[in-house]
Amino acid sequence: MNTITILGLETSCDETAAAVVRRHGDGHGEILANVVYSQLKDHAPYGGVVPEIAARAHVQHLDGLIARAMAECGASFMELSGVAATAGPGLLGGLLVAMMEGKAIALAHDLPFMAINHLEGHALTPRLLGDVKFPYLLLLISGGHTQFQLVEGVGQYKRLGTTIDDALGEAFDKVAKLLGLPYPGGSQVERAAQTGDAARFDFPRPLKGRDDCNFSFSGLKTAVRETVQKRGVLSDQDVADVCASFQLAVAETVGDRLCRAFSAFRAAYNVASPTLVVAGGVAANQPLRRAIEGQCKKAGFTLNVPPFHLCTDNAAMIAWAGAERLALGMTDELNFAARPRWPLDTVSVPFYGSGRLGAKA
Ligand code: KG4
Ligand code: ZN
Repeated sequence: MNTITILGLETSCDETAAAVVRRHGDGHGEILANVVYSQLKDHAPYGGVVPEIAARAHVQHLDGLIARAMAECGASFMELSGVAATAGPGLLGGLLVAMMEGKAIALAHDLPFMAINHLEGHALTPRLLGDVKFPYLLLLISGGHTQFQLVEGVGQYKRLGTTIDDALGEAFDKVAKLLGLPYPGGSQVERAAQTGDAARFDFPRPLKGRDDCNFSFSGLKTAVRETVQKRGVLSDQDVADVCASFQLAVAETVGDRLCRAFSAFRAAYNVASPTLVVAGGVAANQPLRRAIEGQCKKAGFTLNVPPFHLCTDNAAMIAWAGAERLALGMTDELNFAARPRWPLDTVSVPFYGSGRLGAKA
């Protein structure tokens, strides 16, 4: 198969991103350019992503990022094999920006267009970075999604489990807010927890022992809120202890859910050395990472966590998903409409945390 070079665009939430990625004839990937504008500062005063501000920022920054990505890799639009843009799930106003711009470039240069599911971008990232064979197990833990997927092939996913309420990143962010820590709170909770006593508060481990692969974090968040409200004024040590206890509850819960997912994977496939891929911003959490490593070791799974900048939202993963699709002849029409809600596994019953409207993915 020929070399494929794809321009990828991502504007589904609060990162504006453009990248150029190459898929070589033997199937291995190469990132030629990968630029991201994080809107974190634009949204921080509001304690969360404001859709209108996000859409405007995408319009303001995407042109410049595309120009930078193209300049960095020294390619002209004529040398591209196709254009890929995130079509969902995400905020509609944001999605429209990359979709319109991607379609316009594809039309002007007579290139194939690929409308990409953002979650597929996360799911296929390990194949951009190395020789990871289908099928594998994916654990996506981000600000908008918490789910297990069986990744069987490009466009072929089976959801094993999902959160039935809050996403894990969302739970970290809400706990941080309760404690007066700045947004986004995940890394702040991790930092505060370093000096905390994880045994001080006995928070629940939601769904622990349940015979499925779902998650639930709203009860855990409520338990933290009640503890915080009961104590009234919190000392720095109180904050650290709450963070450490919350983090331990999360690590034990994810560990328990992982055991179920490993069993479900083994029941579905006969793979000699199976792989677990973890993606999403929460994968940066070190105590959680150690818990996941421990479970993988016990169950004989190889753990694959892409580097942080490719684990969080970026356009290289969108370009790569486009390259994998183009290699299989899977292109889309220019009238493909953005899909604010677009689960990877379209057969599964929808839940609040699974590709929901306005979710960060
Ligand atoms: O994947 P991501 O960058 O964005 C999307 O959700 O699309 O994930 C962001 C989430 C936020 O909720 C953030 O608080 C969380 O990942 N996060 C962390 C850590 N770093 C980022 N959560 C726990 N520990 C961390 N070190
Ligand atoms: Zn994402």
